Amino acid sequence: MKGIILHGGHGTRLRPLTHTGPKQLLPIANKPMSQYALEDLKTAGVTEIGIIIGDVFPEKVKEYYGTGENFGVKITYIYQDAPKGISHAIRLCKDFIGNDKFIVYLGDNVLRRNLIDYTKKFQSSNSDAMILLCKVDDPQRFGIAELDQNDSGKIKKIVEKPKVPPSDLAVIGIYFLTPKIFDIIDRLKPSWRGELEITEALQMLMDDGNKIEYDTVTGWWKDTGTPEDIIHANKLVLDSIGTENQFLIDSDAEIKDNVVVGTGTIIDNDSCIIGPVIIGKNCIIGPGVQLGPYVSVGDNSNLKCCTIQDSIIMRDCNVNAKVDFDSSIISHGSEIMASDIPKKCQLLLGERSQINL
Ligand code: DAU
Repeated sequence: MKGIILHGGHGTRLRPLTHTGPKQLLPIANKPMSQYALEDLKTAGVTEIGIIIGDVFPEKVKEYYGTGENFGVKITYIYQDAPKGISHAIRLCKDFIGNDKFIVYLGDNVLRRNLIDYTKKFQSSNSDAMILLCKVDDPQRFGIAELDQNDSGKIKKIVEKPKVPPSDLAVIGIYFLTPKIFDIIDRLKPSWRGELEITEALQMLMDDGNKIEYDTVTGWWKDTGTPEDIIHANKLVLDSIGTENQFLIDSDAEIKDNVVVGTGTIIDNDSCIIGPVIIGKNCIIGPGVQLGPYVSVGDNSNLKCCTIQDSIIMRDCNVNAKVDFDSSIISHGSEIMASDIPKKCQLLLGERSQINL
């Protein structure tokens, strides 16, 4: 089986974070979110992967993943000129896929459990597609499946972002498909949002009498459409990190619970880290820093005098400020300074921002 990761789109709801790169490269627990998709596919035995790249800095995706060799997979890049829909992106992969079954993974979806069992189930079944469902509190935001009341193993209807949802079962962004879908997509018309929708293609596949099965997601699943979603995903992933401490503690810094620290990082005295927290390589943390819980700090960042919780600080950042950050995302290369008065703040900063509070 081959896999496809969708890495296009404009990520408008995540601006200013996406002014300088595709949203799927934004880090969650110090790893681009699309890398979770790639690793899930690889763990399920899918090592031939097509990555759909769009018109937002596609070169950054190629630069990061390269041929795939460093990640143990083989990558083919497929260019989508504009975000014309998930089905449009899938159709571009017809030649790459050939005649085999395949998996499509939206690059902004993060799933707690791996795909091994779902993949085995689909490989041995005679279904024409398989989808994964997850209960959500806000069904208007997703593709929604309605199950057949008389036959709970059967899907009755699939609709995209319904105003009046027929259920609270979201169709998550991981689709198990066969090449039958390509002919279906050729018959699709753009939706009200101007896109070729995957949900409409699935509905049409069912209407044509094909078999679609489903499975239910256990554990969490996250679509990272908004900054709040990204901070939440960071929290969910950090909840499952280990404690590989590889750090230098300058003197008597206090470290509690799960804290992962990269090589070359120094945690200065008079600092306190309350896990779960992940800190990258070659950072200087302290003096006077309180980190956590639920904080990711990227490589080469220097933090002084600040208190940070529930936040993502990307690589190469410099914070020297008596500031209490909460629910913030600070992009690569940003610099935050402040006068001596302690402040509370929530920031969403694009790359290389400079702030003097
Ligand atoms: O996350 C699950 C939901 O994903 C499903 O429940 C919906 O049925 C499905 O339509 C989709 O909804 P979104 O509105 O969240 O899709 P979004 O536009 O955010 O695109 C999903 C991913 O696919 C994102 O990583 C960008 C990428 N993409 C999107 C489009 C429209 C492309 O690569 N090309 C595209 O043309």
